Parts: sequence; C-alpha cells; structure tokens
Amino acid sequence: MENKNESIINKNNEKEEEIKKEEINHDIEPKKEINTENLLFEAKILNVPENYEPKNVITFKIIIIGNSGVGKTSITNNAVKNVFFENYRSTIGMEIFSLFLKIDHKLIKLQIWDTCGQEIYRSLITNFYRNSSLAIIVYSIEKKESFKDIDMWIKELKVNSSPDIKIILIGNKSDLADKREVSYEEGAKYLDEPEIINFYETSAKTGDNVRKIFEEVGVVLYKDYIKYKDQGSLKSSSTFRTNKSNKKVKKKTCC
Ligand code: GTP
Repeated sequence: MENKNESIINKNNEKEEEIKKEEINHDIEPKKEINTENLLFEAKILNVPENYEPKNVITFKIIIIGNSGVGKTSITNNAVKNVFFENYRSTIGMEIFSLFLKIDHKLIKLQIWDTCGQEIYRSLITNFYRNSSLAIIVYSIEKKESFKDIDMWIKELKVNSSPDIKIILIGNKSDLADKREVSYEEGAKYLDEPEIINFYETSAKTGDNVRKIFEEVGVVLYKDYIKYKDQGSLKSSSTFRTNKSNKKVKKKTCC
C-alpha cells in the first residue's frame, strides 16, 4: 500500500511540474489589454487538437471529488470521451484526464483530476487538491449518504486547497429518478454557500448536463484568468487560482 501511495504521489508531483511548464506560457504571452466587451465567452468542447502547441494553451487544473460510486469517473468519461460504462471499477488513487475547449478563439485545457472516493484513499487524495482552480463535488441523487457527506468534502477541500476555492456541486444519476433519495431542492439549497457557484443534476449515463458543466467551468476560469492577467497577479502564483473578490457568478440551475 505504501509503495502504491508513493507512486501515486510521484505521479502527482510530475503532473504539477507539467502544469508549471505550461503555465509559464501565460507569462510569455504579450501582455495586452483584452477588451472583454468584444468577447462572447462561448465555449465548445473539442477533440484533442492535432499538433497543438502547449505554449498556446491555457491550462487549468480542476479536481473532482465525492463518495465512492457516485459517478465521478463516469461524468469525466462522458465529458472527455463521450462514453459510459455500466461496469463499476473503482479508481485507484486518482486519474488525470484532459479536456480541450475553444473559448473565443482561445484554446483552453482543463486538466481534470478524477479522484477515488474510497475511504482508504481519503487522506492520500487531499495531496492532490493543491493548486486546483476549481472543484467539482459529486453526490448521487439515489444515495442519501453521499449527499450527507458534502459538508465533509467542502471542509476537506478548503483546508487542503484554498479557503475560497470555487465549487460546482453535482447531483449525479438523475436518470434513476424512481430511486431518488435526495430532492432537487435539497441540492439547490447549497447555492446559499458562498463557495458553491452553481448546482446541477446530471446523468453520466444519458449525458444530461455533463458537457455543459465543463463548458461553464472553462468560461468561469477563463474570465478569471483574463481579469487576473490584466491585474498582473498571475506571475506570483505557480498555478492560476481565483480569489474571494470574484467568487460569485450568476447562479443558474438546469431544471
Ligand atoms: P470511485 O472511483 O470508487 O470513487 O467511484 P466513482 O465516483 O468514480 O463512480 P463511477 O463513475 O466509477 O460509477 C460507479 C457506478 O455508477 C458505475 O457502475 C457506473 O456505471 C454507475 N453510474 C455512474 N454514473 C451514472 C449515472 O448517471 N446513471 C446511472 N444509472 N449509473 C451511473
């Protein structure tokens, strides 16, 4: 177990280095005024662009957490590969996926850190939270227990990443409405929490709401990126992050 944990942590460190290299390019870009009024902030998920130059990509790290079996890997697989598997194979430690988006002619890469929800890995996965620009917390609408643990996930996240990290909350498995144990309203109540910027119910099985969430994530982070780039504050942080002053975006719910 120790060796396995070590190799997972090493993988984490290697990825952190990769992110840093990509981020240096944020600073290399000529600093010019960006007139945000001319931007539409329309996001579109792309297939992996051929021969893309990492230096032309803006990379954001996002982390996806929640109890075991709620569908974190399935949501990620649906967004990235447009696939869904009925068979359950628990993630070991964590897995990293890349999702490319085009937003107003800019190429954005979301580096999605899909973590394992099993309790035995809990202390280990907190190592992966650092430098995340945004977190997605997932529960299953047909498992009350996974909903009850949301507060615990928020607390762990704030302690191990940044106290003002932005969070999108997802109630997954909306296709299992006949087995529902958590109402839509119960989930939406979390919109009162200052760090929760949006709430959606999704189905990784049917794809309902999945890709649009990642497009929204791209837009939220790109907007922050532009804002902080203009303020010249990116150079001081190795990975782009958001902060409290711009935490609220327009709340919208899906249904
Ligand atoms: P861990 O890796 O253990 O943390 O689990 P996870 O949260 O990544 O869950 P995973 O994506 O592996 O899904 C667990 C099981 O739920 C699998 O059998 C999936 O097929 C199923 N599942 C995931 N999402 C949905 C969904 O939206 N609807 C339905 N019906 N089943 C789903």
